[in-house]
Amino acid sequence: MSFLEALENRRSYYGFTAEQPVSEEEIQEIVRRVVKHTPSAFNSQTTRIVVLFQSAHKKFWDMVLTEIRKVTDDDAFAKSSEKIHGAFQSGYATLLFFEDQAIVDHLMQNFPLYAANFPVWAQHTSAMHQLAAWTALEEAGLGASLQHYGELVEPAVKNEWNLPESWKLIAQMPVGKPAAQPGAKEFAPLEERIFIYR
Ligand SMILES: Cc1cc2nc3c(=O)[nH]c(=O)nc-3n(C[C@H](O)[C@H](O)[C@H](O)COP(=O)(O)O)c2cc1C
Repeated sequence: MSFLEALENRRSYYGFTAEQPVSEEEIQEIVRRVVKHTPSAFNSQTTRIVVLFQSAHKKFWDMVLTEIRKVTDDDAFAKSSEKIHGAFQSGYATLLFFEDQAIVDHLMQNFPLYAANFPVWAQHTSAMHQLAAWTALEEAGLGASLQHYGELVEPAVKNEWNLPESWKLIAQMPVGKPAAQPGAKEFAPLEERIFIYR
């Protein structure tokens, strides 16, 4: 698969089979290459990825549910529970995308002219890693989706896996073998989105 083919095939997959067609070592190698080669603002290399397999993956989504339980009524919790078990926990790995705020703070102090930009660029940097990982996983025959429970679950995650206080949890990516193909996607006309001048 070429890069553009993998990009075209990448979708949000909600729900996975029990199969594990790609080894944990291969997934780790994908993450290593993504982290090493994805660019970052000022080459700051602020991104941290935690890869959770098997019981750690299951535990993470249980932790999300524990936090959701604290802020929802019974009906909303039942819906969330169904979604989290079916769409996310049914996979066999989760990538947690963090940005190291300590590096961001250091850059803000050392380059005051750009200070306001560094937190924004850290978000851009994280997004670049997210797309690179999502596309590489697609190319390897896996599927993923992108989730945002960071604010809810960050303290519990840091406590569980002893992660540095300076890491900010930006996104979570459940991974597995897709149980079904997603429906067709609508595309806004490219003429309204790309402009070429000579
Ligand atoms: C910045 C960003 C944030 C997203 N946040 C979520 C999210 O919180 N939950 C979710 O299920 N999907 C999320 N998505 C997935 C989008 O809804 C999805 O990519 C889009 O509808 C196109 O569908 P596709 O991924 O199947 O191509 C996010 C995607 C992007 C790029």
